[in-house]
Amino acid sequence: MAKRIQFSQHGTSEVLQYLDYQPAEPGPHEVRVANRAIGLNFIDTYYRTGLYPPPALPSGLGTEGAGVVEAVGSAVEGFAVGDRVAYATGPLGAYSELHVLPAEKLVHLPDSISFEQAAAVMLKGLTVQYLLRQTFELKGGETVLFHAAAGGVGSIACQWARALGVRLIGTVSSAEKAARARELGAWATIVYSHEDVLQRVLELTDGAKCPVVYDGVGQSTWETSLDCVAPRGLLVSFGNASGAVTGVNLGILAQKGSLYVTRPTLAGYADTPQRLQAMADELFGMIESGKLQVDISNRYPLKEAAAAQDALSARQTTGSTILLP
Ligand SMILES: NC(=O)c1ccc[n+]([C@@H]2O[C@H](COP(=O)([O-])OP(=O)(O)OC[C@H]3O[C@@H](n4cnc5c(N)ncnc54)[C@H](OP(=O)(O)O)[C@@H]3O)[C@@H](O)[C@H]2O)c1
Repeated sequence: MAKRIQFSQHGTSEVLQYLDYQPAEPGPHEVRVANRAIGLNFIDTYYRTGLYPPPALPSGLGTEGAGVVEAVGSAVEGFAVGDRVAYATGPLGAYSELHVLPAEKLVHLPDSISFEQAAAVMLKGLTVQYLLRQTFELKGGETVLFHAAAGGVGSIACQWARALGVRLIGTVSSAEKAARARELGAWATIVYSHEDVLQRVLELTDGAKCPVVYDGVGQSTWETSLDCVAPRGLLVSFGNASGAVTGVNLGILAQKGSLYVTRPTLAGYADTPQRLQAMADELFGMIESGKLQVDISNRYPLKEAAAAQDALSARQTTGSTILLP
């Protein structure tokens, strides 16, 4: 018997229950992981509210964690009982003491990376890897716009951009978050609660705008983001923190400068064990080299997941939040 967070209906964080749970025996290609630390992500709130439908209710929650392999299925190769592992995608249910998932979703965790560090960066750091290194392959020297720059994904993006020699303009909602983003490596910040983002981007780029804009905020920033993309540049719309972008008239891309838009997901980039491992190797290398400091700003006991989600949704957090089973 183990404890986990479960929900049986969609709604506010009040639907999250901390319950006894009997994890299944792993299937032939699965492993059971005893979680030591669990990552909290905005996507978890989308499943809770129903913006992203879970496969069934009642449902577990969460897709990111790190721990020790406790049992392996008969056909699993490459992982054994006792291995230190981490994961960022896969079936819902990471908010749990024990999680059963396909072995192909796991990576081996180097001894240099703690369970807490891994739970704080697997999903967010792999996301930054593909955003900055694959969706738009930054070479260094570019000026890019990145929304919510002091958040979980944003804190990693600021540091990774600095390491690449990229000038990251980060938007944030407060002066305190602006200071944090600059500390982490943002080249400039815009407090979008009271500054005009387009005007500031024009000033900061001498009118050139940005070859790529990264937007995880969604509905409230969509139009401004398009305005900040240079002609024939790319808008990467990768999240819905303020609500989903819907009902887009494609003609807007023509009007605003023959723009490109993509709506990527981590699962779409880390879609084979080989690609997942290569992305994780690069992420762990960034940590081992000291270029990326893991910023765990908030720790909650697993049973207080609802309070952790409320803080994230209310924009009270910076960096990563982890849950401890
Ligand atoms: N597609 C993918 O592969 C992928 C992977 C990981 C994450 N994501 C997305 O990336 C975004 C960031 O995720 P995260 O887990 O690191 O969260 P986070 O950035 O730590 O938190 C979200 C931030 O968004 C900003 N925000 C703007 N409007 C908001 C609103 N109405 N309500 C709440 N927050 C608002 C807030 O920063 P300010 O106060 O500074 O505005 C807030 O701190 C999310 O949209 C998430 O879904 C996508």
